[in-house]
Amino acid sequence: MKIRTLVMQMSVLGLSLLMISGCKTKQQKSTEAMKIKKEVVGVSDGKEVILYTLRNANGMTVKITNYGAIVTELTAPDKTGKFENVVLGFDRTDSYWKEPYISNCCYLGAIVGRYGNRIAKGKFVQNGKDYVLAINNGPNSLHGGIKGFDKVVWDSEPFENTDGQGVKLSYLSRDMEEGYPGNLSVTVYYTLMNDNSLKIDYDGSIDQACPVNITHHGYFNLTGNAKTNILGHEMQILADRYTVVDSTLIPTGELRPVAGTPMDFNQPHPIGERIEQVTGGYDHNYVLSDGIMPIRKIARIKEPVSGRVMEVFTTEPGVQFYSGNFLNGVLTGSGNVQYNDHWGFCLETQHFPDSPNQPLFPSAVLEPGARYKHTTVYRFGIE
Ligand code: BGC
Repeated sequence: MKIRTLVMQMSVLGLSLLMISGCKTKQQKSTEAMKIKKEVVGVSDGKEVILYTLRNANGMTVKITNYGAIVTELTAPDKTGKFENVVLGFDRTDSYWKEPYISNCCYLGAIVGRYGNRIAKGKFVQNGKDYVLAINNGPNSLHGGIKGFDKVVWDSEPFENTDGQGVKLSYLSRDMEEGYPGNLSVTVYYTLMNDNSLKIDYDGSIDQACPVNITHHGYFNLTGNAKTNILGHEMQILADRYTVVDSTLIPTGELRPVAGTPMDFNQPHPIGERIEQVTGGYDHNYVLSDGIMPIRKIARIKEPVSGRVMEVFTTEPGVQFYSGNFLNGVLTGSGNVQYNDHWGFCLETQHFPDSPNQPLFPSAVLEPGARYKHTTVYRFGIE
């Protein structure tokens, strides 16, 4: 009798193990099928534009298009478990190339390069040769020029690994494209991780020396669906110095301590608390290290009403904290929300602005035979 009971228990146990490992229920199958969705949403430059939707084990989702390697939407739960969009973007993918103001404005959610941030007067010297870039921001060149990495169609393919699921995006920037020397082959891997992070790995190689500075230009708004501006977000940036800039936002070369100034975010402060004391608002590069570093936490942001928290980790030596000072209300984004000034903030992990003209800044030059490597993680939680 006892033996029979044991056998029955074992077979029940065996059956349930089988159900967990092999026989998936309809619901399990449909959830898995939903992990990666791929849709063709348009054509730009004669190439198919694809929109990927990824979903992680906890229900977080991200939408990524191969146009500009743009994150168009990212959902994260608030303290009650409600998922809402935490980035600025457009509902329609073609808005990214059709929207009249986008070309000279905001780089919403895109990968920017070949040189993210500014190069003074669009000029630099590499191996004794002068290079001239397009001037597209006051007297300077910004975010790779007229048609930077944010406005090209990347090759793309989805992938899945033990961390989560992602999209691999590759682009070949040819010699002298936008005035930069060398054929640069670049790959960006976005992974939506099961620990509720969006991880971005960058990889590149080149056949002639050139400054390379590629970053993600996501605007975050943790209120959920961009309900208000970001001035109430509590920002913490773990950095002791920043690069002082002139009136055209080009570094003077000075690395100034933040201590005792409105630039100090080592202890969390609402973004709006001291922004009036900073001419033009926050648009500054914080110094994290003197070169590429092992990945570490560099920032933490909390939105007190929703309880959402975002932590940022990077291997890069700098981060541009931009408080959306030029949004101006010219764009109407997802859910018909008008993006006024300070409607989103960026934390662009990077080499310092204008490093090609600043010999004392960490060098961003990528040499043939070397690899461009950079990882940044935006991790979401609640408090
Ligand atoms: C820059 C801002 C610029 C913005 C464009 C940021 O990375 O620091 O000055 O206006 O990009 O969207």
